[in-house]
Amino acid sequence: NMIKRTAPIIVGNWKTTPETLQEATKFVKNLDKKCSSSKTKLPKKAYYIATSDIFIPHLAELSERGYVGSQNISGIRPGQVTGVTIPSQIASAGADFVIIGHSEVRKQGETVEERSHKVALSLQAKLTTIACFGEHTRDKNGNYLSELEEDVKKTLSLVDRSLFNNLIIAYEPVWAIGSKNPATTSECFEVVIALRRALASIAGIDYAKKVQVLYGGAVAPDNAKDFLEDGGVDGLLIGRASQDVQSFVDIINACYEK
Ligand code: PGA
Repeated sequence: NMIKRTAPIIVGNWKTTPETLQEATKFVKNLDKKCSSSKTKLPKKAYYIATSDIFIPHLAELSERGYVGSQNISGIRPGQVTGVTIPSQIASAGADFVIIGHSEVRKQGETVEERSHKVALSLQAKLTTIACFGEHTRDKNGNYLSELEEDVKKTLSLVDRSLFNNLIIAYEPVWAIGSKNPATTSECFEVVIALRRALASIAGIDYAKKVQVLYGGAVAPDNAKDFLEDGGVDGLLIGRASQDVQSFVDIINACYEK
């Protein structure tokens, strides 16, 4: 299930919604129908949905207009470990992609070392891997930029060079996630440059220029396109606004409007 990725990449992070597989099924059917009747010309695959692992096989089978993936994965090597799901398992169950290092996962105690194993093993399992980075707060001296660069370098330190192509970087300022106000497009642009600088030092300048970067944090139908036009990103990672069919489809349409 290797994804052939074209921008814009519009990823919904469903978190713990919806509460039942029935509702999730209804959502995807409705979303596909809305994509197919859209006045805007959309590609065959127009969205990504990160859902609960337990919903993945069913939704991956069902969805015609998008990709289905996981919100987190274990970086533990196959063996005698209880209660985890590893990348090869989720890939063989139908997942196309996985999100690694979301701030809400970090908050549960994920270490940078764990994150580096997660990213390396997900890429080895041929999953398109979205690695998230973002500062908690900003300081006047811009120290958060060097901290982010350091996090990028450590998180990607175990990645096999030949697998960088299947990696996507997400910039998600923690202060914007779940808040009313997203970053401004220039705040986003500044950090994306810093992230690309870190990527250049580990994977080369050509890679750093072309790697796809997403913005996430309070994205809504009325600000989505601004990030693609002025934020220096190739796509969006969307929480709340992806958890309602109409606002998710409004974002998809806005991003594809000429
Ligand atoms: P939000 O969440 O869009 O609800 O701010 C973003 C995220 O958690 O990825």
